[in-house]
Amino acid sequence: MDCKWFWVFLVMMLVSLGEGCWEEERTALLQLKHFFPNRDGYLDNWVKNSECCRWKRVMCDNNTGRVIKLHLWDVRDFNLGEWYLNASLFSPFQQLKSLNLRANNIAGCIENEGFERLSRLSNLEELNLAINNFNNSILSSLAGLSSLKYLDLYHNKFKGVVNIEELHSLKELDMNTNEIDHFVSPKGLSNLEVIDLSYNNLSNSILSSLGGLSSLKSLQLKDIGLNGTVDVEGLCSLKNLEELYMGWNKIDKFVNSKGIQFIPSLQAHN
Ligand SMILES: *[C@@H]1O[C@H](CO)[C@@H](O)[C@H](O)[C@H]1NC(C)=O
Ligand SMILES: *[C@@H]1O[C@H](CO)[C@@H](O)[C@H](O)[C@H]1NC(C)=O
Ligand SMILES: *[C@@H]1O[C@H](CO)[C@@H](O)[C@H](O)[C@H]1NC(C)=O
Ligand SMILES: *[C@@H]1O[C@H](CO)[C@@H](O)[C@H](O)[C@H]1NC(C)=O
Ligand SMILES: *[C@@H]1O[C@H](CO)[C@@H](O)[C@H](O)[C@H]1NC(C)=O
Repeated sequence: MDCKWFWVFLVMMLVSLGEGCWEEERTALLQLKHFFPNRDGYLDNWVKNSECCRWKRVMCDNNTGRVIKLHLWDVRDFNLGEWYLNASLFSPFQQLKSLNLRANNIAGCIENEGFERLSRLSNLEELNLAINNFNNSILSSLAGLSSLKYLDLYHNKFKGVVNIEELHSLKELDMNTNEIDHFVSPKGLSNLEVIDLSYNNLSNSILSSLGGLSSLKSLQLKDIGLNGTVDVEGLCSLKNLEELYMGWNKIDKFVNSKGIQFIPSLQAHN
């Protein structure tokens, strides 16, 4: 073979190696596509034998070609009604950092195919399940997601007592717009910096149950049924708190059972 052609061949080989998405991941994406039918062509370039890193809603790491973000928010045709997710469909994406399933009318996970199936995705930092119909039954399956930093459960069907298991990496938790009446905050959330519990059915007692959230900087408690005389003593242990939102409640006055000024840098927004 002519030496020149050898080099051309070699360069082409290297280029194709550097680009290609992983076959295993392309296959998994095509399988996933069946579960997200829609009329608006959101996934219309998800077709066989094409470069899956260029597909809509997919982002790869430019060096490794592995899928790192899947932004499947508001993809599935809402008129198809509620459905149950098989979380194992995401387990092939071993470098996945961000999974967004917001607004897909998901009712929950198929039995034994819940988020516990993703516990080996050790780079998974962001999980967005907002605007679906998930309920308390998924909470225990999230406990294995030990790298998770951002968890969005806004506008789902969480009710009654919510106990978020140990999620040591978690920095932001959004549970706005559910029907929670009790939030249990174990020591396992000690790195949590931002929490939004607004628009739930909590009451004054919430303030005494947040003490374990020792890294908290921002606390949102809008329209949660706070009323009358509110004792803020429970917030004393939140030494890092910078922002507190308590609007749309029926608070007459605040008291502090120790009678001292505390949280000096606090800005209260009402
Ligand atoms: C990869 O490269 C593309 C195009 O050069 C760029 O738009 C994209 O942000 C890069 N992705 C990452 C994860 O850096
Ligand atoms: C869930 O998806 C995985 C991976 O595709 C598959 O092996 C498994 O059979 C599915 N489970 C159910 C119950 O469909
Ligand atoms: C919670 O969701 C599961 C499915 O994930 C369902 O089987 C169960 O009935 C739901 N529970 C309530 C109280 O709605
Ligand atoms: C929670 O509060 C909402 C709005 O105030 C109300 O419609 C709903 O019935 C309450 N749910 C429970 C379980 O108390
Ligand atoms: C204040 O909240 C408590 C607990 O939710 C409730 O039992 C009580 O009726 C409320 N009082 C008023 C005046 O709304």
